[in-house]
Amino acid sequence: MKDFIYSYLTKVYFGEKAAKKALPTELAKVGKTVMLAYGGGSVKRSGVYDEICGYLRDTGKEIVDFSGIMPNPTYKKVQEGAALAREKEVSFILAVGDGSVIDCCKIIAAQAVTDKDIWEMEFKEHVYPTEFLPMGAVVTASGTGAEMNNGAVITNEDTKEKAGVLGAYANFAVLDPDYTMSLPAKQVISGAFDTLSHSMETYLGSPRDVNLSDEIGEAVMCNVIRNIRILLQDMYNKEARTELMWASAMAENGILKIGKVTDFQAHQIEHQLGAYTDCNHGQGLAVIHPVLYRHIYKDGVKQFARMAEKVWEIPAEGKTQEELAEAGIGALAEFVKEIGMPSTFTEMGITDKSVLKKVADTCNLTAGCCKKLSREEILQILEECW
Ligand code: NZQ
Ligand code: ZN
Repeated sequence: MKDFIYSYLTKVYFGEKAAKKALPTELAKVGKTVMLAYGGGSVKRSGVYDEICGYLRDTGKEIVDFSGIMPNPTYKKVQEGAALAREKEVSFILAVGDGSVIDCCKIIAAQAVTDKDIWEMEFKEHVYPTEFLPMGAVVTASGTGAEMNNGAVITNEDTKEKAGVLGAYANFAVLDPDYTMSLPAKQVISGAFDTLSHSMETYLGSPRDVNLSDEIGEAVMCNVIRNIRILLQDMYNKEARTELMWASAMAENGILKIGKVTDFQAHQIEHQLGAYTDCNHGQGLAVIHPVLYRHIYKDGVKQFARMAEKVWEIPAEGKTQEELAEAGIGALAEFVKEIGMPSTFTEMGITDKSVLKKVADTCNLTAGCCKKLSREEILQILEECW
């Protein structure tokens, strides 16, 4: 295990009526003008918007409405939010929605308090913001775990990059599984697969000797697989949605990453695919993972074999490490089919094959879980995903 420093900045209110428990107390601590940020309207249809507005009014806040944050939020939307926050002298941002809404607000929180361009600052000068408007997050769709970290994935349409930008941590996060009950089945499964992906990408990072972080990671992966299967039988099973909501936060709140250098090559490829096609994040990952893993498992055969045994429950007896690792990847590919996720880019509805080379040429190359890939290998992987 590598040395680490661990502290946590986000206070989590989890469970039934979490907003009622959290918001009167938390809002009492913040300034008068609150930006209420959300997506394309699901919060209005579900009634969450009206409920949250009630808490804001009860605590005497002036509401600055900021709507229309899209899946795969753009840097333009960040700028629009930051300009509004400045114009209305917003003192607090309340993000109500999915990973995209929370991510967009993390960067609005940074951009609103500086004249410097955050993108230029982070990617050209490698300087990271230290001052933010304070913010809170109310989660309506789980999977990304965005509520418990300060990384935001933002699409810069001008440069054709979808990249991780560092922004604000939410002071508090409200996770009420009831708020996710209106989420369509397809997005529930896609989000849950995203959580599985985060856990796998962390597990396959280094070091790969048996350690507590990975053992907790195995538990998170098993939990996600089991609860997706429960939801496939009963999509409104509250206990399963509750478990998945916490698994989502657990996979991205840093605990699985303690003492590890993570990989996230599948995410890096998917993000650039998103930059060129605006595809659904979880779906892109479902296609990429098995193909990517078939390319690299021989360089990390022990950890892949361990994952096969511990997570996919494949008996080790009578198999070489390589056979066990291959069987695990086979089980992952079968699982993708079982849960109705796409196995190819064509099934996702991507039609322009020329994007593959652009993705291969522009995605970040991580140090690699087991093997650092070349751009040619990434192109080959992408072509196999077609
Ligand atoms: O916009 P509205 O109308 O609200 O609809 C949303 C959206 O269409 C809808 N929705 C959300 N809550 C709902 C609901 N519909 C009905 N009932 C509810 N309760 O669901 C859709 C969600 O889409 P999307 O934004 O794609 O969801 P997700 O939460 O998966 O976020 C994906 C984004 O997060 C980034 C991804 O790259 C992508 O941009 N990620 C952020 C991470 C982080 N910050 O830690 C980590 C992840 O790896 C990921 O990269
Ligand atoms: Zn993800």
